[in-house]
Amino acid sequence: MNIPEHFQINSKGHLEVSGCDTVELAKRFGTPLYVLDETRIRQNCRDYVAGLAEAYPDTQVCYAGKAFLCRAICCLMQQEGLGLDVVSGGELYTALKAGFPPDAIYFHGNNKSREELEIALQNGVGCLVIDGFYEIELLNELLAGKEKRQPVLLRLAPGVEAHTHVYTRTGQEDSKFGLAINGGQALQGVKAILNSPRLELLGFHAHIGSQIFDLASYEITAGILAGFMAEVRAETGFVAKVLNLGGGLGIRYTRDDKPLPVREAAKRTGQMVREVFSTLDYPRPKLVLEPGRSIVGDAGVTLYTIGNIKTIPGIRKYVMVDGGMADTPRVALYQAVYEAVIANKAGRPAEEVVTVAGKACESGDILIWDIPLAAPEPGDILAVFATGAYTYSMASNYNRLPRPAVVLVAEGQRELIVARETYEQIVANDLLPRRLCPQNERVVAEG
Ligand code: LLP
Repeated sequence: MNIPEHFQINSKGHLEVSGCDTVELAKRFGTPLYVLDETRIRQNCRDYVAGLAEAYPDTQVCYAGKAFLCRAICCLMQQEGLGLDVVSGGELYTALKAGFPPDAIYFHGNNKSREELEIALQNGVGCLVIDGFYEIELLNELLAGKEKRQPVLLRLAPGVEAHTHVYTRTGQEDSKFGLAINGGQALQGVKAILNSPRLELLGFHAHIGSQIFDLASYEITAGILAGFMAEVRAETGFVAKVLNLGGGLGIRYTRDDKPLPVREAAKRTGQMVREVFSTLDYPRPKLVLEPGRSIVGDAGVTLYTIGNIKTIPGIRKYVMVDGGMADTPRVALYQAVYEAVIANKAGRPAEEVVTVAGKACESGDILIWDIPLAAPEPGDILAVFATGAYTYSMASNYNRLPRPAVVLVAEGQRELIVARETYEQIVANDLLPRRLCPQNERVVAEG
């Protein structure tokens, strides 16, 4: 395996990230452990901002919190000058509890609840991304009698099939997201918003999918959206001020993935949108992008301890780690492929092909099929790359496994940003009705 460019091998032959020895991190914080390289995250943020600004006059980069969110990350994004895309009351609450400026928050969701919308309105969320007629009605009701108009975008389904896994494709017409341009629902949505005295339509949003390498999908989307904007203007006189093209840029999980560097991809996206509008007689809107994976994905590495090793003669060798699908569900969900090394043998040749299995009670809990590793033994630390996005944020307590801790590293410094869950927290919400446990008064009393 070639180790990703921002990792090093130190004098002990250990894998190192931003000046921190991963074997020491595992010893200090325990495993499984998510490690995030702060330097890399900041670089990705800066590359987005700079790349877009090189190509387009008025831009905003919003971090899509669904990739990985906790309060420290909100603070980091604020420091980097990014906005934030949240998609639930929980993500919104996290941002507010981190002191993230509400006016830099875009609130998404295809079924926002009344309570979620109320929290957003009470806290002055900058922009709601409306996804359907139901939400327009709900907002009209919640905003009745209010002074201020609420800025909104309308999410569109542009009818673009991005080349990515079917579960991470969202722009096609048969989708639960957005209102379809074809067939006229989107135009109807625009009219409903324009008719509302309480809503201020800023413009449009589309997100075509995730882990996309072919930027042509964005060009096509921008063209369709610009065409729609021109149609809306002709029909209603409305001129959009904002065009939000969502996120989706792919990252390198394995050597077969060849994404453009972030700065280059951002610049090309800006250029494409600029060109689309230069052919139309339409004022160039502000361009918003919402990357998640390409901000935090390649900054992450997950550390596990190898335990049981089982060889099935003539078939395969299973190397088992102390985590798996509960902390990294993407393999079971999308057949995702990761690469890894043994952190304490990072300098040695990887000659033995094995299958890395998790510890969940489930045959499908395989982390990596057929990967060459350097003679794995119990007690070794396995480092799985490119796990910064959609791992912790999708983790579960399946088998009542506590969620791992998250540590942020930067030039030799390391800081815990999410503590490891404890067994006490695992049972914290369990209630013990006396009727069910009369035989154990003491346990019931201790609650
Ligand atoms: N904006 C919207 C409206 C989105 O729905 C998403 C992702 C993003 C931005 C950020 O996309 P990104 O830049 O991270 O690709 N769990 C899947 C990915 C689901 C993405 C959902 N929406 C996975 O692990 O591959």
